[in-house]
Amino acid sequence: MKRVVSGIKPSGTLTLGNYIGAIKQFVNLQSVLPDYEFYLFVADLHAITVPQEAALLRKRSRDVAAMYLAAGIDPQKTVLFLQSEVKEHAELGYLLQCSTYVGELERMTQYKDKVKVKKESGITAALFTYPVLMAADIIMYDPEFVPVGDDQKQHIELTRDIAIRFNNKYGDFFTVPKPLIPTYGARIMDLQDSTKKMSKSDESDKGAITLYDDSDTIRRKIRSAVTDSLGLMKYDLENQPGLANLITIYSVIGNMKPDEVVAKYQGHGYAQFKEDLAILVIDELSALQNRYHEIIDSGILDDVLDSGRDIAREYAYKKVEKCKRKIGLGRIKK
Ligand code: AMP
Ligand code: TRP
Repeated sequence: MKRVVSGIKPSGTLTLGNYIGAIKQFVNLQSVLPDYEFYLFVADLHAITVPQEAALLRKRSRDVAAMYLAAGIDPQKTVLFLQSEVKEHAELGYLLQCSTYVGELERMTQYKDKVKVKKESGITAALFTYPVLMAADIIMYDPEFVPVGDDQKQHIELTRDIAIRFNNKYGDFFTVPKPLIPTYGARIMDLQDSTKKMSKSDESDKGAITLYDDSDTIRRKIRSAVTDSLGLMKYDLENQPGLANLITIYSVIGNMKPDEVVAKYQGHGYAQFKEDLAILVIDELSALQNRYHEIIDSGILDDVLDSGRDIAREYAYKKVEKCKRKIGLGRIKK
């Protein structure tokens, strides 16, 4: 059976960037790839690589799972679970660390960026080895594809290198996965600063639309989004990055190509375009929020997560046992 695997960290509040770059893509794939099996998890072990408050982390993990379902993840097609409930992720993570070099981890740009920001507060060892745990999350299930946003590309390349290295050493064992990065929306930028991506952990909340924002907040954030003074309706990532970002959001939610959005608003000012974009985003997110509220307090969520955990555990247990034997771990039985 061919498989697709992905995950999201429950750290911070989910944004429109997560929705467009990862969640929506995953939901679409469920119908585009009918013959595939889907594994999707809440990456709570990844969240604790930086300090978390226990009760809040638990709440956020549930929130992420509920948002996935609200967005259209079908539990009949997708095995949905919490990463920490399948112990083999941590176990395989360790085994793979033995096939990963410090130099490779030092080259990870996300790690380098985080070190710059967190210098004095201390960098955990787990933040450094994070990409190896991510590799374990993925190759555990032998997927063909991993749908992610642009910022995860380097981590998937490392995952491929680790899988190939292991296969060369111990014989073909892991499927070497491919990243699936959307053509549009792989990197939704901050609405106030088009040089940085829209991010969950961002304190300045004007630049990020969260999946929980109400209509007024969404409208206000889109109205105040930074554009340019050219007044030209054009999809130009280089010279008009703020506008291009808004066009991208419009095109993904409205199911149109960026050029079609440009054609539709040719001759109109940015203000009209922004008002219409706000309506589009408000409609999408309010429908999402309604479903989320139905799911979050229902027992359905636990049923889905229980059954996801059991299916994932069965697969993971077998895979890790085989992996350990390949490496030479375990007893010789007389
Ligand atoms: P994270 O929030 O880092 O756990 O990311 C979860 C998923 O959302 C990953 O596949 C990311 O690549 C994707 N993602 C996060 N932020 C953005 C963004 N601003 N634009 C597009 N995709 C994003
Ligand atoms: N590291 C990813 C992020 O920050 C989340 C993640 C963890 C993930 N394990 C994964 C994504 C496996 C895809 C596949 O976005």
